Amino acid sequence: MITIDGTSFRLDTDCTTYLIGKTKYGHLEHIYYGNLLSKEDGADVLAQKRSIMVGSSVFYSREDDVYSLDGMCLEWSDNGRGDYRHSPTEFKMPDGSFVTDFIYEGHEVQEGTASMEALPTACGGDQTLKITLKDKAYPIFIDLYYTVFERTNVISRRVVVRNEGHDPVTIRRIMSISMDLPDERFQMYTLDGGWIKEANLHKRPVSYGITINSSTTGASSNRHNPAFLLAEADANEDYGSVYAFNMIYSGNHYSIVEKNERDYVRICMGINPHMFEWILSPEEKFETPECVMSYSSQGFNGTSHNMHDFINEHIVRGGYKKKERPILLNNWEAHFFDFNEGKLLRLARDAKKLGIELFVLDDGWFGGRDHDKAGLGDYRVNPKKLPDGMKVFADKIRNMGLDFGLWFEPEMVNEDSELYRSHPEYAIKLPNRHSVLGRNQLVLDLGKKEVRDYIVEQVSSILDEAKVSYVKWDMNRHIAEAFSAVLQNQGEFYHRYILGLYEVLTRIFEPRPHILLESCSSGGNRFDLGMLCYSPQIWVSDDTDPIERLKIQTGLSYFYPQSTMGAHVSQAPHQQTLRETPLATRFHAACFGCLGYELDLKYLTPEQRKDITEQIAFYKQYREIFQYGRFYRIKSYKSNKVIWETVREDKETALTGFFQTLATAAESSDKLKVIGLKKGRFTIRTRPQKLYIQRFGGLIKHVVPVELNPDGIIMRAANRHYSLKDCEETYTCSSEALAAGIPLCEQFIGTGYRESVRMLGDFGSNMYITEKESEQQR
Ligand code: GLA
Repeated sequence: MITIDGTSFRLDTDCTTYLIGKTKYGHLEHIYYGNLLSKEDGADVLAQKRSIMVGSSVFYSREDDVYSLDGMCLEWSDNGRGDYRHSPTEFKMPDGSFVTDFIYEGHEVQEGTASMEALPTACGGDQTLKITLKDKAYPIFIDLYYTVFERTNVISRRVVVRNEGHDPVTIRRIMSISMDLPDERFQMYTLDGGWIKEANLHKRPVSYGITINSSTTGASSNRHNPAFLLAEADANEDYGSVYAFNMIYSGNHYSIVEKNERDYVRICMGINPHMFEWILSPEEKFETPECVMSYSSQGFNGTSHNMHDFINEHIVRGGYKKKERPILLNNWEAHFFDFNEGKLLRLARDAKKLGIELFVLDDGWFGGRDHDKAGLGDYRVNPKKLPDGMKVFADKIRNMGLDFGLWFEPEMVNEDSELYRSHPEYAIKLPNRHSVLGRNQLVLDLGKKEVRDYIVEQVSSILDEAKVSYVKWDMNRHIAEAFSAVLQNQGEFYHRYILGLYEVLTRIFEPRPHILLESCSSGGNRFDLGMLCYSPQIWVSDDTDPIERLKIQTGLSYFYPQSTMGAHVSQAPHQQTLRETPLATRFHAACFGCLGYELDLKYLTPEQRKDITEQIAFYKQYREIFQYGRFYRIKSYKSNKVIWETVREDKETALTGFFQTLATAAESSDKLKVIGLKKGRFTIRTRPQKLYIQRFGGLIKHVVPVELNPDGIIMRAANRHYSLKDCEETYTCSSEALAAGIPLCEQFIGTGYRESVRMLGDFGSNMYITEKESEQQR
């Protein structure tokens, strides 16, 4: 709800209040952001008191020696009027100076969301406040938009700059958010990484000076995700003040956190000013991407829940909004480029038998794409691989009872392609320099209309011809040599690229809401809210090693729900790490996302086939909870444990993944906590899982009564057809006891195998199912 009382603007969500004041000079002050205030509380009490003159400051008014912009908590700020912190803007004004003085001009409140022309906006907001600021010297306006999403405790912010004067204004920096908070010994948490190690969570104290979280690769990037947290020093998963920020944008992003000498912390977030410059001609306007923020006093899980609900409700749209996602088989790690119709059909048949629902044909099906040096750009079926064409092949897949999905990388071109030979000018490159390649490819210039039309036409015609129901949209290199022959001003390049991308995605997928789009950028190189407005799920990482996924998916879970994360079970040792992990752990990690399999099924043993069939049946039974349940990261006091829990909306069923990274000798007993349940009695049980006897090697003598050569033929044959039962526990108790934590059976320490000994070892895991007792059971 938005309430305005003359000099203050109050934005309430279900659990938070955001308060903005207007000073006597017309500047916007940031007054409060935190837990919901009582109706009677107003800006007068909560506003910062200004009663001393601070030496060496510059004062906004000659008559007022306590009004220095530098010492205020502001909601927006200028350059050159005495505030020396990082400004949300840098405009070159018609007089050639960089000095601006934007003050309050008016405001409006409207019901719902105010959409943008070219950028995606979160949908279904409750109310929107627009506060207009005007520069004192020129008719240049800044509209600050605030949209309130009450139930999910999110407020979004964005800015529109309008030039109503006669001269152009050069925008060198324009943020979507600026606000100053009093310091709470904040810690800043960011998601950093790179290819196959995306979204690792890092924490650093907010210290004096500026900390920047940004991307310059042309995408939101795997280096630094746009999302970040500011948390009070003592906050943990369940307690403490936490602010979360994110941005609905897939290009170069930029956030700063600056602590000044008065211990105020400025937060700015927006398009990266790096290589950015936008000339705003008279009568033109510039829209910034929408940014979102959320507050919770319930620790990190609190802001995560707000952000998860917000994404499921207000970001994801189209036919797959809140819809359960299919279990897929992707052929990439099975075949890479080396396949033919026979191999694909065999894989699909095997997949169907295991319970898979969607078959995805990855890279390599078109043009001369027998390796990654050729073919990108030519989306015509390679007749050597699929002689009867895509439609006939897709029909064969559908006749098996599977849906059919296809991979594209439409933003790219190989020099060795028909497209490049006929249209070399479609690629991004400079006329006077040799081009640099990434994965042997160039990026297409999405700022050009003819390129956008080409992509829309090529992709759409295959989608319609083969009745494709899922698309994996890839983007496998960073942008370099930013230059477009159609632009007068190259400072617009990166933003125009993203506008072009959003246009293409809208034109292809808006008329085809039945298609599930999974976006990908060498894994999670473009995992952001902008892409989620078009693709309900994103391929998290090319790293399918579950132990790496524990870090990556944990990192993403701070901001993004499980329904957005593509997660696959692959072969071990893993392609990316050479690590050997149990099949059960690969499955348990992938369960907390949109499950898929990505391996050559023909090499599975009969026992592994049974195992995977049971896994898939189990996932189907609880899919809604895995994809849409309330997700908790459970604190463990042991550094070798990762515990994830997801709870059904009615709080009567919970699923807990209990993961061990490295085993330690004679480890103390483990406790399992299950939280977020309603009051009552529950039964908790271990999901039955197989123990492959090969895992024991020479230790097999502890486990079976007969002597076996650990490397012998009998052992290998036995491993194909038999497995042991892993420890299964069942307890019945109250939700209070579960929240306190119940001790589990002890782990194997070499003194013998029994069914009551948990056999985790390195990288082992268990899944626990907690269900409310029914009246009959009581
Ligand atoms: C990228 C993706 C992979 C796969 C390959 C195909 O690396 O992240 O999942 O699709 O491209 O070339």
